[in-house]
Amino acid sequence: TNTQHQYRSESALGQNPLSCRTLSTRRELYERDFPVYKQPVEVGCFSLDSERRFFNDSRQMRYYVEPDRNPNFNLRDGYRDRFIKRDDSVKERLDHILRWIVANKSTINPTGAAASPRALDVDFVTWRGHLTKLLTTPYETREGWLLAVTRFRGTLYISEVETEAARRERENRTERHEEMMYWGYKFEHYTCADNTHSLPDPGGVVNTNEAFCTVVQTRLADHRLLFSGEVDCRDKDPKAPAAPACYVELKTSAEICTPKQRSNFHRFKLLKWWAQSFLPGVPRVVAGFRDQEGVVVSVETFHISKISHLIKNEYNCWKPTVCMNFCCDFLSFVKRVVTEDSHRVVYLFSWDPYKDVTYSAHRDSQYCFLPHCRVEDEDE
Ligand code: A3P
Ligand code: MG
Ligand code: MG
Repeated sequence: TNTQHQYRSESALGQNPLSCRTLSTRRELYERDFPVYKQPVEVGCFSLDSERRFFNDSRQMRYYVEPDRNPNFNLRDGYRDRFIKRDDSVKERLDHILRWIVANKSTINPTGAAASPRALDVDFVTWRGHLTKLLTTPYETREGWLLAVTRFRGTLYISEVETEAARRERENRTERHEEMMYWGYKFEHYTCADNTHSLPDPGGVVNTNEAFCTVVQTRLADHRLLFSGEVDCRDKDPKAPAAPACYVELKTSAEICTPKQRSNFHRFKLLKWWAQSFLPGVPRVVAGFRDQEGVVVSVETFHISKISHLIKNEYNCWKPTVCMNFCCDFLSFVKRVVTEDSHRVVYLFSWDPYKDVTYSAHRDSQYCFLPHCRVEDEDE
């Protein structure tokens, strides 16, 4: 009923509903009907090459080649001698997406001339990965986040800021952890080809600068979203459905040997996998299960639409509706808070596990991430 709805939305707004200065992340506040989430539509794509240079095309697209029943892929192969690692201390913020927007403005604003010639026809611009973090927030117990938001010509741009804890973790990774981060990319090299008529080349160099990114538009309740996400590969059948339905997400995970391991896989891994692929409308995840030595011993396909059934038997498990309703309420919160329209102002939203979301405003600060010259370039 209406009363229940009002009660629910006020209690989600922290201690004092009148000030609306915080947002609760408690799961039970978001257990309501699944919000409207429109089928995501691909409006474009871009590629980043081996030197992280931007191209407004699909040159880095790769094609999925189904592995053998007993794959035996050694994910450690090439870590020492055939691996070029992207420098993850370089913060790219929204730069590649902004570059794509400048190059494709007519695509997203077919009637752009109408009201305001330079306004974008969307409410939010961000990376898919930032939205994934929002979706999983009500269930996250370890890592907090910082999201910088700027309103520019009506559109809200959301860009992540690395937390102190994340920076410390990045700078102090163990050798084992560094190597294990390589394994996921190596799996992609065993299962992807560069074009439709070739085979994977496991002898090649793994270069994590390279990426193919899709740009999709969709709507979550009354929030019009434009976001980009990296896509691992696509179905190589030319008759496969149009993007994003032809895309395949690749994952690796530890082999499951006990009921406890299966339960943890359902409760933690599948939440992350579901959130990441559901957002851009990628329908399936191909998972390589590896042993302690980094050898893939089995490969299994997970259909995103079936994951919520797979987890139904887990006690007190995550719920897709909680993820989507929290994200939706967070975006409403951002719209209410971020009122000043200026590329020089950043509102910093901050969250730590077991706390509420809070924010602060910063003018001309280190957090500014919209190089206004770029966004204005085109028509000035
Ligand atoms: P796995 O997910 O198979 O471990 P993605 O799966 O999103 O395409 O990312 C490819 C690989 O990048 C991952 O493979 C993992 O090795 C690495 N990776 C991605 N996000 C990471 C993160 N937050 N921390 C550590 N490694 C990450
Ligand atoms: Mg990827
Ligand atoms: Mg992947």
